[in-house]
Amino acid sequence: MVVEVRSRAYCEARQRAGLLEDGSVRLLREAGLAGRLDREGLEHGGIYLQFAGERHHLDFRDLAGGQTVKIYAQTEVVKDLIARRLADGGAIEFEVSGTAVSGLDTDHPVLSYTAADGSRQGITCDVIAGCDGFHGICRPAIPAGQLTTWQRDYPYAWLGVLAEVPPSTDELIYAHHPRGFALHSLRSPLVSRLYLQVPVDEDIAAWPDERIWAELQTRFALPGWELKEGPILDKAVTPMRSFVAAPMRYGRLFLAGDAAHIVPPTGAKGLNLALTDVAVLAEALGELLNHGDPALADAYSANSLDRVWRRTHFSWWMTTMLHTAPSGDPMETELQLAQLRYVTTSRAAATTLAENYTGYPDSTGYRPS
Ligand code: PHB
Repeated sequence: MVVEVRSRAYCEARQRAGLLEDGSVRLLREAGLAGRLDREGLEHGGIYLQFAGERHHLDFRDLAGGQTVKIYAQTEVVKDLIARRLADGGAIEFEVSGTAVSGLDTDHPVLSYTAADGSRQGITCDVIAGCDGFHGICRPAIPAGQLTTWQRDYPYAWLGVLAEVPPSTDELIYAHHPRGFALHSLRSPLVSRLYLQVPVDEDIAAWPDERIWAELQTRFALPGWELKEGPILDKAVTPMRSFVAAPMRYGRLFLAGDAAHIVPPTGAKGLNLALTDVAVLAEALGELLNHGDPALADAYSANSLDRVWRRTHFSWWMTTMLHTAPSGDPMETELQLAQLRYVTTSRAAATTLAENYTGYPDSTGYRPS
């Protein structure tokens, strides 16, 4: 069973990432969850990197063996998952509070919560999957000293904007600019998703719509190209952090997604990493619970961490290559530009970006078939 602190309406409305790797698309298809994704998802075969007043295209189909990505909002994936689970007669309890896990040293940990009707519940579980995000209760429930963690907070944030205007580009534009990074993404043929690098802890009130558009115009400016403007539907500031906790398991509590690791959003790995975690975990739990075979459950953490660290490195690399350091260190800028020139002129360097962006397999070769 699934318990969720938020309401169904909240889960289905909050704006999150929007890019699925090929492997994530295959996984959702295999799970019978890709009906709408296959109809509405937009296939992208590359990205643009813009810097020093030039825009360069990287062709993933060519560089990464035909691999592509799909634009399909995480919000839509969540809607599809909820609808499917309810249609299958599965339980999801929304708007619960007072969640706690206990008995983690036993074979039957307990999940306690207060249901939406106010009743206190205690569920005796075979396993608990902690998919409750960075601020959730599962990771902190693991006894002190059992986890090693690594963390890096970046000295900038993203101001994310959802705008009712057709995208001004056929593929995503990642722009390095002296005033800060900008990203032009999209959600549909009629809705654009745009991001601006802003100072950490920036007050959204400092960004009226006119200022947002003016800043986007400056950072994306290119002769002969126009950024179309439209009504802003949603805007929010998101901090950026890299975080990894290991192992991703304590007894019968398994951590997945942001509960175990966070990547900064540059390169769009967070959702894909979470989907792969749960795909690998689901298979492992099937073996453990249906066949009494613990081998895959025992290997879950080590196998996942290999994949997690590859994505953690890639996200850090994309982030630090594209964002302006608040210190304004001129040497840092020249190093970034040298790397960007390398990635856009060397096929080997471009392939590195392309194969990571589209989803590099981990050392176990895991890819949804
Ligand atoms: C998004 O569309 O939200 C998105 C796309 C690519 C990124 C990050 C976010 O690298």
